[in-house]
Amino acid sequence: MKKDLFELSVVEGGRYSNLLVKKPDYSELVTFAWCKKNPVYNWFYYKEGYSGGLVWDLLGRLGIGEGSKVLDPFCGTGNTLLACKQKGYDAIGFDILPLGVFVSNTKLQQDYDMDLLYESVREITAAKFGETELRWPDLDFIDIKKAFSAYARKDLLFFKEQILGIEDDKIRNFMFLALLSVVIPVSNVKRDGGVLRITKKEHHPPVRHLFRNKLKRMYKDLKRMKPFPPGVFAEARIGDSRSLPLEPESIDLCITSPPYLNWVDYTKIYGLELALLVDSSEELRSLRRKSFRSHVGADDRRRIDFRSEKVKEVMENVSESTFVRKPGIVEGYFEDMYMSLGSIFSALRDGGKAALVVGNVCLPGITVDTDLIVAELGEQIGFTLEEILVANVRWCDVHGIRKERPVRESVVILEK
Ligand SMILES: C[S@@+](CC[C@H](N)C(=O)[O-])C[C@H]1O[C@@H](n2cnc3c(N)ncnc32)[C@H](O)[C@@H]1O
Repeated sequence: MKKDLFELSVVEGGRYSNLLVKKPDYSELVTFAWCKKNPVYNWFYYKEGYSGGLVWDLLGRLGIGEGSKVLDPFCGTGNTLLACKQKGYDAIGFDILPLGVFVSNTKLQQDYDMDLLYESVREITAAKFGETELRWPDLDFIDIKKAFSAYARKDLLFFKEQILGIEDDKIRNFMFLALLSVVIPVSNVKRDGGVLRITKKEHHPPVRHLFRNKLKRMYKDLKRMKPFPPGVFAEARIGDSRSLPLEPESIDLCITSPPYLNWVDYTKIYGLELALLVDSSEELRSLRRKSFRSHVGADDRRRIDFRSEKVKEVMENVSESTFVRKPGIVEGYFEDMYMSLGSIFSALRDGGKAALVVGNVCLPGITVDTDLIVAELGEQIGFTLEEILVANVRWCDVHGIRKERPVRESVVILEK
């Protein structure tokens, strides 16, 4: 019988092959697609995000009890935190980038003064244009003058200045999130895989127009939204997954998705939004160096010594390949993964579980099975591998060869 893509992706007799389980109903849930259709989740488009639906399913599957606390050490735009808060579970998240932390906390806000919000939206969208003192920082990866028309450049800064003048914190954050969400739509830029590309768009919608529409949609979401269950704590903080500032054994469950080993530098693809949030281009560069080693801009100094047969095998192949620039990134990526798993392990109570959404990649000559490597590293740290739920298997093109190898996107379930 012809093997299907899932079967083709599994190396028979491999140590974990009997723990790989097909999970096609997660196929869309591990992507941002579900968020696009769901209020609040769709306030900011984060292509790398996953869905609230996935988090809800995992909460049930992993058997969360009343009063449990959930951790997301790579919280991005806070979908884990929002999904937990909606179901009445406490949740804490960390992200290295202020963009994710800001978006997360704004999506978690509640108890708005709705009349004041309505009035503020009306006022800001009717404000008469004037000059602003604010300036864009110099960015080393894109020319701001090419990224925006002169109008869009000025208008974004004008609205930012107006927003900063709003006294009510919640309303100020709400408006700023709406502004951040229109940065790409009003630009000449397209996010294309791991890079920003300047494109010639036929039509440039004015900032004011898109900003107003976005505010209206967000306002409607708030009006219709079911209130969060009372007394739930959910918050995102700036923090590094490799050294989480958490009390040992203080967490019941971890649901998360680390950056994939796909050379995507978040400080570049979200660099235009970050440029509105941070004070200087130096700050942006420093964030780039500090981030997870999934791209060439990260600080690639070795930090710890860790042993992994699978990583060793990958490195032997990668080092021989002339196609992979900076092969050390691959090792650095798994070193960061090892440190993050260690930090999750220490924060979890005994019997606590961790679900990690990861993507495998293929490089010339080798498939990097991130799911199996996470399982191996997890076991070294003291976790037990429960199962690996395979949400997607895709053909991967390598160096001009179409459909070279199938690669998985999986949820690795570990237990402490
Ligand atoms: C795959 S995304 C997570 C998306 C998230 N699940 C969501 O639904 O929005 C990975 C996140 O890890 C963050 N990140 C990168 N390096 C980090 C580090 N060392 N510590 C914490 N977060 C980090 C990135 O900024 C990015 O937001």
